[in-house]
Amino acid sequence: MSMHLGRTTFGDIANQGNVLSRAAVMQWITDWVINPRLQLHMFQVGELMRCWASEKLNLSEADAWKWEMAGILHDADWDQWPDSHCRKIVEALEEKQIDPEIIRAIASHGHVHFGVEPETAMDKMLYAFDELSGFVHAYSLMRPGGYADMDVKGVKKRLKDKAFAAGVSREDIRDACERAQIELDELIQFIIPRQAAFTANQS
Ligand SMILES: [Fe+2]
Repeated sequence: MSMHLGRTTFGDIANQGNVLSRAAVMQWITDWVINPRLQLHMFQVGELMRCWASEKLNLSEADAWKWEMAGILHDADWDQWPDSHCRKIVEALEEKQIDPEIIRAIASHGHVHFGVEPETAMDKMLYAFDELSGFVHAYSLMRPGGYADMDVKGVKKRLKDKAFAAGVSREDIRDACERAQIELDELIQFIIPRQAAFTANQS
């Protein structure tokens, strides 16, 4: 069954700036996502999106929250409705009249699956963080020290080991870096300390 969304425009421009409160997003995750590992992945990606928006792009707190919201909600329908993955969350956000930028980013986070090309900076970074964040976390779980002393070299070595976290598409990671015009090393270096700090605070 194709997961293609069959369209490339999302939401309504009139809804620009419409976001949910953090409490509403948390409630949504509680309602839709049962798997705690998936929940953690979504929050990790949200945190990386927030950090990128505020640290690299100097966006306001309000704009950084849009990035974070896209990061948190990108897999919201994956747990319970894998066959409608992406379509369900996109339609729910449209129904809630959420900012189209957020909806578009979510719709384009897997262009091979959903048929929507990442175009904006938000689109591209969500795509880039998605696979790599999950990969770095998987790597932390197999290290005795977790995130402690993790470095770029170690992550890249694991990336070359095709048997490790085989579900993570190396091709998507390469493609995402190219589209975002970021060196893989730089992206890994950005992820490690932020995801380490965030994950330590979660437990
Ligand atoms: Fe994801």
